[in-house]
Amino acid sequence: MTDKKKTTDRKRRSANWYGKLDKDGFIHRSWMKNQGFPDHAFDGRPIIGICNTWSELTPCNSGLRILAEAVKRGVWEAGGFPVEFPVMSLGETQMKPTAMLFRNLLSMDVEESIRAYGIDGVVLLGGCDKTTPGQLMGAASVDLPTIVVSSGPMLNGKYRGKDIGSGTDVWRFSENVRAGEMTLRDFMAAESGMSRSAGVCMTMGTASTMASLIEAMGLCLPTNAALPAVDARRTALAHMTGKRIVEMVDEDLRLSRVLSKGNFENAILANAAVGGSTNAVVHLLALAGRAEIDLTLDDFEIGRDIPLLVNCMPAGKYLMEDFCYAGGMPAVLSELSGHLRKATTVLGGDISAFADGAEIFNTEVIHPLSDPLKPAAGVRVLRGNLAPDGALIKPSAASDAFLEHESTAYVFENIEDMKANIDRADLPVDENTILVLKGCGPKGYPGMPEVGNMPIPAVLVKKGVRDMVRISDGRMSGTAFGTVVLHVSPESSAGGTLALVETGDRIRLSAGNGTLDLLVDEAELARRRQSYVPDLPPYDRGYAKLYVDHVTQADRGADLDFLAGKDVRIPLRESH
Ligand code: FES
Repeated sequence: MTDKKKTTDRKRRSANWYGKLDKDGFIHRSWMKNQGFPDHAFDGRPIIGICNTWSELTPCNSGLRILAEAVKRGVWEAGGFPVEFPVMSLGETQMKPTAMLFRNLLSMDVEESIRAYGIDGVVLLGGCDKTTPGQLMGAASVDLPTIVVSSGPMLNGKYRGKDIGSGTDVWRFSENVRAGEMTLRDFMAAESGMSRSAGVCMTMGTASTMASLIEAMGLCLPTNAALPAVDARRTALAHMTGKRIVEMVDEDLRLSRVLSKGNFENAILANAAVGGSTNAVVHLLALAGRAEIDLTLDDFEIGRDIPLLVNCMPAGKYLMEDFCYAGGMPAVLSELSGHLRKATTVLGGDISAFADGAEIFNTEVIHPLSDPLKPAAGVRVLRGNLAPDGALIKPSAASDAFLEHESTAYVFENIEDMKANIDRADLPVDENTILVLKGCGPKGYPGMPEVGNMPIPAVLVKKGVRDMVRISDGRMSGTAFGTVVLHVSPESSAGGTLALVETGDRIRLSAGNGTLDLLVDEAELARRRQSYVPDLPPYDRGYAKLYVDHVTQADRGADLDFLAGKDVRIPLRESH
């Protein structure tokens, strides 16, 4: 840990609450003392907020109470005063219509909670997909010293003596049931063995992707991404994080002094190497918007030629527990050292320190750069008249044969249309058809759900087809796979070209060239545009209305337009 310049003579932020010898200071301290905190807790020591997304409705974050207690021990040990507070929790598998609708609401909760309370630094406890980006977005808009402790992945899923992975095997089993290759009884029996400890999805889904990228960005202590949720070393890491945040407050190591464009570029490079989720793209863009860092969709092209090193589902075959035992993110960062940008971390030095002494212990699970699993694994950005502002494809999770493909479209106008018709025996599709799904973007659904990997039509599943080209303005679970074009911008409900696609149109996808084109002439598209009527969901009140009215498109991170940037002012007015 470098750069330990003490700044304890600087007036702490918390002194504006607890350092006042007047009626207001009395009120702030006295009511806190009803919890048994002694006088010396208010003697000017750093007050550390522990921002917890624990909830029984977010099973992936169910271990965070234990980690919060460990953080507190570390804070006390280092001479700070820890105070835990709850924020909205987003259970990816439990919320309707989609947890993504509420990522920005969580970020507002986090931002306003940090701002309103008398704390000097904050530890973010999150894990399930949207909790990590939502917390960081909120924290970036207040800009205190900030550090992350993640839930950690569940233990490997087990079924009939074999490893099974969260999400990835659900999609696989579900298709097998539809094809008549797996009984419903076996399908139901796999449920309990899949999720058998606290923690997040143990595939390289969005949660583990974001935890891996947070480590590549240097926003947590090394090894945070892959240590299993129930591994005692994670509890020890939480303790050490509590110690470190107190030092960060003394060093005034605010988030803005850590984050630069280099941290984001390292996240993009790492996302390719770990075979990470396409969801990382919207989350990194949104976080960059809060941190006032100029990051665009085109910046993701730097990951294009980075090889796939980590052999985890859905791009590979192992799971996060295996990834941890093989060396975890320190080993990946060590392999990537020739590519990584200079970037500050929460330790105060460069990211290269996160790879110090790292080794690969199992080259089947973490391939060395000299012998990668796949040669070029970065998310590809696609542009063309069907996606003027961009779309994404994840080649490492796609079928090579479909990465260059031209065929006829079959269009579903919305999710209900798709669900009602996908298994029709007379659906006029073959294995080369391109499935198009509209109405699943940020405004249209609303919230941009993970439905882009729509099921293969039953008529084709029965013939053994397991992949085909699918295009939508929605997202895809980080645990999913297939030749799936996602995040088409502008979305159909914002008047994008996607809204004009009709069944029978020709579409050309070239992942190699980074293009996505609707092969319909301009005059015909202009004619269709004249009769286009946007089909927005009927929300006329509450948060959903605020969201639909203000959400930006996927190419800008699907944040609310008025939340970009930060406000670091300390509220000085009192309530009494
Ligand atoms: Fe919570 Fe996957 S559903 S991490």
